[in-house]
Amino acid sequence: SNEITGVISEVRLIFRDALYAAFPMASALGVKPAVTLTKDSKNGEFQCNNAMELCKKLPKDLGFRAPRDVATKIVECVPKNDVIEKVEVAGPGFINIFLSNAYIVKEMNNAVKSGSAKPTSKMGKVSKDSLTVVDFSSPNIAKDMHVGHLRSTIIGESVCRILEYQGHKTKRVNHVGDWGTQFGMLIQYLKEKFGENPKMEDVDIQDLTGFYKGAKVKFDEDEDFKKVSQTNVVKLQAGDEGCKAIWQVLCDVSRKEFEKVYSRLGVTVEECGESFYNDKIPGTIEELSALGLVVQDGGAKCIFVPGFKIPLMVQKSDGGFGYDSTDMAAISYRLRELKADRIVYITDFTQGDHFSMCFRAARMAGWYNPTSADVVHIGFGVVQGEDGKRFKTRSGETVRLVDLLDESVRRMEESLRERTKEGKGSIAEGDIRSTAEKIGYGAIKYFDLSRNPTSNYIFSYDKMLDTKGNTGVYLMFAYARLKSIIAKAESQHGVKVDATSPEFNMQMTHKNEHRLGFELLKFPDVLSSVTSTLSPSGVCEYLYNLALVATSFVTECKVLGSDEMESRLALCEATAGVMGECFGMLSIDVPDKI
Ligand code: ARG
Repeated sequence: SNEITGVISEVRLIFRDALYAAFPMASALGVKPAVTLTKDSKNGEFQCNNAMELCKKLPKDLGFRAPRDVATKIVECVPKNDVIEKVEVAGPGFINIFLSNAYIVKEMNNAVKSGSAKPTSKMGKVSKDSLTVVDFSSPNIAKDMHVGHLRSTIIGESVCRILEYQGHKTKRVNHVGDWGTQFGMLIQYLKEKFGENPKMEDVDIQDLTGFYKGAKVKFDEDEDFKKVSQTNVVKLQAGDEGCKAIWQVLCDVSRKEFEKVYSRLGVTVEECGESFYNDKIPGTIEELSALGLVVQDGGAKCIFVPGFKIPLMVQKSDGGFGYDSTDMAAISYRLRELKADRIVYITDFTQGDHFSMCFRAARMAGWYNPTSADVVHIGFGVVQGEDGKRFKTRSGETVRLVDLLDESVRRMEESLRERTKEGKGSIAEGDIRSTAEKIGYGAIKYFDLSRNPTSNYIFSYDKMLDTKGNTGVYLMFAYARLKSIIAKAESQHGVKVDATSPEFNMQMTHKNEHRLGFELLKFPDVLSSVTSTLSPSGVCEYLYNLALVATSFVTECKVLGSDEMESRLALCEATAGVMGECFGMLSIDVPDKI
């Protein structure tokens, strides 16, 4: 099969088989194989914890009195294999499992010999025909992107990359807010500021939020302005050319600002905004009505979903369509026209109920069921300032994304210049700025992705840009350290490893080499787990552990000029290779030199 397997799956398989061979009734008794990774490799790399539970559930006439006896029986059923060095029954009945060093060496040897220096090659990439639609970023036209959109953008990009890494097809959708009643006032405001026929080139609105606020103030204060605004909405929805042209200018101007952010962050997303579904809404409502799902409620058309206090409003009492109408048309389109096998929506958690209702309504309509498609919402927590409140600027405004990116890069540039002045590091003067950009953006991304998406987080530049601890900066330094060892081997020792040559063989005798090899061989398992859970934080966790283990390896095992130089260099290269893949999935552009 082309399922990805790694060392964790190998060991789990061996113990699953041993468990069922020893106790064929285990599964009927509801006992599932339980093999976990240990925290401390002193007691082995893995532990099997089935004996205690099984002992309680086994029929008494089988004669197993203590969990230790059960454990011993399982151990007896482990066939001879080259993966496990030894097993021990410990304490009340735990089974400690020690990996064979020879196995790690052999697997690492195969991995580096395949030429890619990455222990993934033997597995190949899983290619699946399934399509995942990822709805992310999705800012609103004529408003700035804020930190919430930043989280959605960063998480969404990473979710797509994780899927694509293994050959899954994705459709990256930017569901921009480009439709709705607010456009009446925005059109009017734009006309008044830039004339009846504004051209995109002449309209200079860097501060979209300011523009939006200006329009809103006028709308609330000026009755005449309010009236024309309302007629604009009707005209726009009826397809009036003049209104459409101005609406288009507003979209283009905003798009230009969004694109700046996407290109700085290396994000790719295809715009398919709310307006795209406009002509699909009436048909959707008709269909839902014919199914008997739509109820008239105070003039509005609503869908009541069991378990929710407020309904979905698919048509307002004035006949207009809103957020709910669009999302019902969108989910129908994605499931039935695009034939998505999976849809992932990424927004802050406050929209959780909205999506639950949409998903439920789509199921009531028979558009999908749990076996035909998987529809999920990843709802992330709010970003808080260091005072624990919603992240705002000093003057109380929501923080503009671009300012936040600038600040991170500015601080990083400052500290890199400081370092260079002190004679540390190896970045040329001319590369400081671009390195600061990579690290600055990378640090923000890692800060965001390493957190469990559902929890709120406190935004702190100091924590984010710390060179120590679980930060993107630490990881980038750890990576650069490996790269620098590899570069020095060549420049100072004239050594470049050719792992593919027949003479080359990995030698791994030091315990830190063993630990690092083990960590690397987990990669395929990590991949399959993060792909099924769609969790960039799983990639971060793995990357951080790998960096820690790699750092103790290079600290305690001399590489340059040692007897084991070639083999150790190959280990450095393999590690940098895997770290590079992880950075890639997190969309962190990591510098080789810092
Ligand atoms: N534009 C929305 C906002 O800024 C997010 C849209 C999310 N996607 C969706 N299909 N509703 O909150």
